[in-house]
Amino acid sequence: MFKTTLSLALLFGASTAAFAQENLAPQYNVQEPAVSDPSIKPTAPTTPIITDDEHLYETFGGREGLTALMDDAMARWLQNPKTRPFFENADQARIKALLVEQFCVIMHGPCTYSGRTMAEAHRGMNVKEGNFYGLVEELQVAMNKRHIPFRAQNRLIAALAPMHRDIIDK
Ligand code: HEM
Repeated sequence: MFKTTLSLALLFGASTAAFAQENLAPQYNVQEPAVSDPSIKPTAPTTPIITDDEHLYETFGGREGLTALMDDAMARWLQNPKTRPFFENADQARIKALLVEQFCVIMHGPCTYSGRTMAEAHRGMNVKEGNFYGLVEELQVAMNKRHIPFRAQNRLIAALAPMHRDIIDK
């Protein structure tokens, strides 16, 4: 419970200062995906690189570990009423593959992200805060099931947190 509360608080910036102090703030990746529509203006990086933990990718089990994590997370998103409507008719295999690429790049792993920016990919989807929380909660359950250490989980969550501005429709 404590872990979930802490991570979700981080998502909305409650502890940004604490994280900056700990030097956990992710770096901007110079190779952000291009935006095809100039009216879309991303406010957060899609692939912010975490440079202060060179073992994060290995901690998550490399590409194999990330693939298994995404398989589990997607199965949970399809069960959870807060996320199911978005994913049930989507190309789940494609989304999982792009999430593996994205997380791999964020963790400074040997990958290239071939998807769109978060702003472009989620535009017009009408994702609300509750949907976002639902997705992150299930991701946390999946990470716990794979025994990813809490500190490593938090590094990933902290890197994803600023993306909510580009994903949620207020
Ligand atoms: C930090 C949170 C999130 C991350 C990192 C993320 C990441 C991604 C990525 C990498 C893609 C593929 C991009 C592309 O198609 O080029 C994607 C697509 C998608 N995401 Fe998210 N996402 C997040 C939150 C959400 C939420 C909260 C929902 C809905 C509950 C959602 C629903 C979808 C759907 C339905 C697609 C497919 C879009 C399409 O095929 O046109 N995502 N997301």
